[in-house]
Amino acid sequence: MADPTDSGLYAARRSALLDRVPPASLIVLAGYQQKVRSKNIKYHFRQDNDFLYLTGFAEPDALALLYREGNRDCLTLFCRPRDQAAEVSFGQRAGPEGAVVEYGADHAFVIDEFETRLLEALKGKTQVYVGDELNRLPTLWQLINRERFHTPFDVPKAYRQLSALGAVLHPMRVIKSDPEIALIRHAVNASIEGHKALMRTVAPGINEGLLAATFMLEIAKHGCVDVGYPNIVASGNNACCLHYEENCCEVKVGELVLVDAGAEYGHYSADITRTFPATGRFSPAQRQIHNLVLAALDAAIARVRPGTRWNQLYETCMEVMAKGLIELGLLEGPFDEVMKSESYKRFTVHKTGHWLGMDVHDVGPYQDDRGDWRVFEPGMVFTIEPGIYIPADAMDVPSQYRGMGVRIEDDILVTHQGCENLSAACPRSSDEIEAFMAAGR
Ligand code: GLY
Repeated sequence: MADPTDSGLYAARRSALLDRVPPASLIVLAGYQQKVRSKNIKYHFRQDNDFLYLTGFAEPDALALLYREGNRDCLTLFCRPRDQAAEVSFGQRAGPEGAVVEYGADHAFVIDEFETRLLEALKGKTQVYVGDELNRLPTLWQLINRERFHTPFDVPKAYRQLSALGAVLHPMRVIKSDPEIALIRHAVNASIEGHKALMRTVAPGINEGLLAATFMLEIAKHGCVDVGYPNIVASGNNACCLHYEENCCEVKVGELVLVDAGAEYGHYSADITRTFPATGRFSPAQRQIHNLVLAALDAAIARVRPGTRWNQLYETCMEVMAKGLIELGLLEGPFDEVMKSESYKRFTVHKTGHWLGMDVHDVGPYQDDRGDWRVFEPGMVFTIEPGIYIPADAMDVPSQYRGMGVRIEDDILVTHQGCENLSAACPRSSDEIEAFMAAGR
């Protein structure tokens, strides 16, 4: 797991970021605050990913300034003060001293000093980049406007331009380094074990919630105590809701169970979906749809290599699924007409992937500044996740196909040669799933 106090790692990222902005820039970063669950009970805290990526500092309420003084990169951290009583109740704090010694800050202060120090830091700066997703710093704008107002017109103005930090930082986060890939790989491997545990456990009569809990137990055995997003354990028609999270129904004989679940490890997430039969045997219609979705996924994976464009994966998936749906009689051809009218969208519903990393829907643009789709480069990690959804009330569809949602999702790393399917070891095809389920019961 990445060491949060590996100050060299974070210093290198800050340096790479400062290389990308004009020399007299100030970067202002706001970490997250703890969210209230109810009254004085808070949710478990998780740091803002941009903040963690650049500082390694995982405590709530923190703020940071990054800038370059001559050739020297500087990090100023603002954090909670040491407080013996609070630390006995809620855990240790680094305090400003720890921020310097353990996290490599050049300067560190308690949060109350932020405004004064910010005004100091603004002097001589021509551009300010702000990373403040939760709008913690409304006073920042007031401060800057006040200073602007009092600055003589002919004096070069600091803080003249405010820009969103994400536009510079997020393209950096799209390309994963080897340590980041190792964390994703760990999260993916733990998730594979979680999915396999569910394939071994599922049976008619079991509750979806118990399957979700089984996933949590299994990933915990592999060092993952949380998931990157709420587990989706959707039996039968529930799978037609793409983000079904209730996980409260009993699995019935003859149903498919769609499980979309990904462990988190070291702040990096996996995101895997598998769809398997409650009884361990696919019906002929379920197998047809499952095979079709897998064919789309495999066709898309086969296209991934440096130079392929993002949208080509979606187009490939839709072509394969549209053709298959016509052959099954679920869509009326001809193929060209189906592609032109996009009538396949009735069953294929959603896009087929997203960047994967610290966020399950990780940051980064899908198109470049000219609006062209992003070209793949080594180090990019993303999901491919085609699906076919046929609701129970689709009365014009033959009954054997109704009330099922099939999605298959893998986590893909772009390499110099092509790609690696990080989640390939999780049973994928209908034959593999049936054999795995038969062996595990
Ligand atoms: N697999 C969960 C999501 O993409 O939202």
